[in-house]
Amino acid sequence: MLKGRNLIEPLDFTAGELDTLFDLAGKIIADPVAYSDAAKGKLLATLFYEPSTRTRFSFEAAMLRLGGQVIGFSGESSSSAAKGESIADTLRTVACYADLAVIRHPKEGSALVAANSAGIPVINGGDGGHQHPTQTLTDLLTIRREKGRLDKLRVGLCGDLKFGRTVHSLIKALSRYENMEFFLISPEELRVPEYVYKDIERGSGSKYTEVSQMQDVLPALDILYMTRVQRERFFNEDDYVRLKDSYILDDEKMRLAPEDMIVLHPLPRVNEIAIEVDSDPRAKYFVQAKNGMYVRMALILALLGLE
Ligand code: NCD
Repeated sequence: MLKGRNLIEPLDFTAGELDTLFDLAGKIIADPVAYSDAAKGKLLATLFYEPSTRTRFSFEAAMLRLGGQVIGFSGESSSSAAKGESIADTLRTVACYADLAVIRHPKEGSALVAANSAGIPVINGGDGGHQHPTQTLTDLLTIRREKGRLDKLRVGLCGDLKFGRTVHSLIKALSRYENMEFFLISPEELRVPEYVYKDIERGSGSKYTEVSQMQDVLPALDILYMTRVQRERFFNEDDYVRLKDSYILDDEKMRLAPEDMIVLHPLPRVNEIAIEVDSDPRAKYFVQAKNGMYVRMALILALLGLE
């Protein structure tokens, strides 16, 4: 069903296609060994022009655990981008060698450019401050497994909502489900971009409230999605230093939250979640990171038509 397709932004797949993908991820989680040869003989290219730990490693681990192989670079200084090659030419070349590719690049829209010239499935691993659809797959799978549903949820998103691409993609994806309620928790300067409000308005009965204090909304949440202030996207360091510690989730604040709320974070964390919270059973960010590998295994199989 998804064979040969690209994943550039969160709505590229229908809700039904996502359900099928999450069902497959669930089967892989239940019996990973059964899939250990599923992508044998296939090659994934990882083209990372920006730093990454989870996205790149989870894609590589996913492909290797499926019995496939991986080529790629990390940092544009080690590819011909350093000689001035365009993304389009790099992708045309990579398509001669690999069966699918994942690209992370600082420019918004770069993954779309890559997909248009590749001729093999291209996955957006993050394009600047814009979108990060495979983090969203990770987030949705985790929410589905932990909360048992993807609709009628009260979701607090906290931190850098302006530059945080995982937030933009998650809101867009969740707005498609019924009666979502978003609580956007950020300093005035780090509110979501204009297009994100439109994504909420286009949703199926989604609502949002903007607040500056997380304490005000914590008792009402099903999910708290924390994010890091995106230092690399700021124009000046003074603003970053002023805003970086706007929110710090600690045990004291967790006492205000419902017993069945879950805390998610795409990671990396800087200061925004105190280490003491890690041992709270509601902290699910490392479960989320692990789910990221499984959902990427499902995605690779689906795009290659091997499911
Ligand atoms: C995120 C990203 O790269 O946008 N990380 C990730 O992929 N898990 C979040 C971040 O860098 O803050």
